[in-house]
Amino acid sequence: MKIAVLPGDGIGPEIVAQAVKVLEALRADGAKIEMESAPIGGAGYDAAGDPLPDATLKLARAADAVLLGAVGGVQYDTLERPLRPERGLLRIRKELNLFANLRPALLYPELAGASSLKPEVVAGLDLMIVRELTGDVYFGQPRGIEVRNGERVGFNTMLYSESEVRRVAHVAFDIAMKRGKRLCSVEKSNVLECSELWKEVMIEVAKDYPAVELSHMYVDNAAMQIIRAPKQFDTMVTGNIFGDILSDAASMLSGSIGMLPSASLDEHNKGMYEPIHGSAPDIAGKDMANPLATILSVAMMYRYTFADLATADRIENAVKKVIAEGYRTGDIWTEGTQKVSCSTMGDAVVKAL
Ligand code: IPM
Ligand code: MG
Repeated sequence: MKIAVLPGDGIGPEIVAQAVKVLEALRADGAKIEMESAPIGGAGYDAAGDPLPDATLKLARAADAVLLGAVGGVQYDTLERPLRPERGLLRIRKELNLFANLRPALLYPELAGASSLKPEVVAGLDLMIVRELTGDVYFGQPRGIEVRNGERVGFNTMLYSESEVRRVAHVAFDIAMKRGKRLCSVEKSNVLECSELWKEVMIEVAKDYPAVELSHMYVDNAAMQIIRAPKQFDTMVTGNIFGDILSDAASMLSGSIGMLPSASLDEHNKGMYEPIHGSAPDIAGKDMANPLATILSVAMMYRYTFADLATADRIENAVKKVIAEGYRTGDIWTEGTQKVSCSTMGDAVVKAL
């Protein structure tokens, strides 16, 4: 298996280095994996004047899976939009056709106290958000800023084709089948035609999955329910922008955004694996970041692309073990536990593995 390793910016290189340690430990144990690194985001711009250099895209295309850190940094915020780090990330998702983004939110019992919600609200949480990743207002045309009637207007287009909704619906129903068989489709069909179509297609696809109970919820209500009573949800499916927002909200249920991995899949289960958090420039280079979301992203790589569930479980169990042993990076630290650096956390996971 060939893995393209794209550390990116900010804390990206530090957290990816810990995930690479885990992969190297698996290789020492007999796993047949090859890794090759390339720059993306601001690092891509610095190296090649492009947030997604051609060589990086080529490497990612040739790989079976991509491991990504994070992109972005204040020093790039004044570049023209096509040169900004975020554009590199959006382009690689689009170029590789990674339309299904899986964002699980799981609470480790020991971290209940690290969540900003009451422990009883989050204890036992196990939620999967399936976010459509290559359509919606993120990519819809036309878009721009122009002068109309003597003033500037900014505009984007929220757009979904039937086939785009259908393919992510199938992924979501398949995942719901393997979980609690309850799927909640989140949209805003009381206001948006785009959501009206989304809902219609969800209902059509549901006919292929009689065992799954499909429900519908407006996104504003879903934002409230995720904070009020998150355990009512099993699997959620939603569009690109709503999923972006709801998955950040859901991350706080698990104690820290530093705990949440993600998988972005194409229709052949080729995937890009990345933590859902950003590049955290404020703590970059300080060996303080939480590498667990990135390490758990490697577990997802084994689960979804390599279809090696035993190794996926092994990585997840190693993470559970270090948490049970009391290792905590600053973001999940609570009284009575041991505060450790990013690299110490990585070493602890390798040892537990
Ligand atoms: C995410 C991020 C990205 C997104 C940004 C960095 C472009 O917030 O992966 O959730 O909006 O998709
Ligand atoms: Mg986001």
